[in-house]
Amino acid sequence: MKNFTIGSMLIISYLLATATATAAVLGPWVQTLTKGNKKITKFHFYVHNLEGGPKANTTVYVVANASITSTSRASFGRLEVFDDRVTAGPDINSEQVARVQGTAANSDLHATAIALNTNFYITSGEFNRSTFGMTGRLPSTEPVREMPVVGGTGAFRLARGYAVSTVYSFDFATGNSVFEYTIYVITPSHEIVWTGA
Ligand SMILES: *[C@@H]1O[C@H](CO)[C@@H](O)[C@H](O)[C@H]1NC(C)=O
Ligand SMILES: *[C@@H]1O[C@H](CO)[C@@H](O)[C@H](O)[C@H]1NC(C)=O
Ligand SMILES: *[C@@H]1O[C@H](CO)[C@@H](O)[C@H](O)[C@H]1NC(C)=O
Repeated sequence: MKNFTIGSMLIISYLLATATATAAVLGPWVQTLTKGNKKITKFHFYVHNLEGGPKANTTVYVVANASITSTSRASFGRLEVFDDRVTAGPDINSEQVARVQGTAANSDLHATAIALNTNFYITSGEFNRSTFGMTGRLPSTEPVREMPVVGGTGAFRLARGYAVSTVYSFDFATGNSVFEYTIYVITPSHEIVWTGA
């Protein structure tokens, strides 16, 4: 019985030691949690997808349509390229923290769903100039969209994770949208260095 108790205490203290987490708030839009050999970075920010309005502000362009795009109820075959401003707050004039750049293709014949191929390029703070990729199926008509995070550069080497987005606002007159994103990116907590020949 005594041995059992000591054994249990050792296991509990081991679990407590390995479960110790270090959290850091690096800004209103980014925080980290380091636990064991993993680091989780949580982003919360807003993406401004500007289709219309003053031409100088446009950040998304349609570069191609398919022969059936205009008659398809899912706009099948439409291909857009974008470079959207990402800000800490919902106002477009709040601090720019990143750009999100990539392509969006309407690629479902029946429902409005987009194949997204995008990179978040951080432009501010601790992770300035690091990137991570987000690619997958975006179901435009669903209120909450989930997308995979697949790889990154700089601080986000070997990243994986997921993004959740909702439409924060949409302007019918211009077609401009603001998307609210929460993204969890998991990376190794220590730099992995190649040793040996
Ligand atoms: C255009 O961009 C400027 C500068 O970022 C901003 O102040 C203005 O509100 C934008 N206009 C629209 C229609 O988004
Ligand atoms: C694609 O079709 C849309 C809608 O008809 C049109 O506004 C746009 O100019 C077309 N773009 C290209 C590149 O064909
Ligand atoms: C981010 O990096 C760019 C390019 O090196 C630099 O011009 C800018 O001052 C940096 N911004 C911050 C907030 O560190």
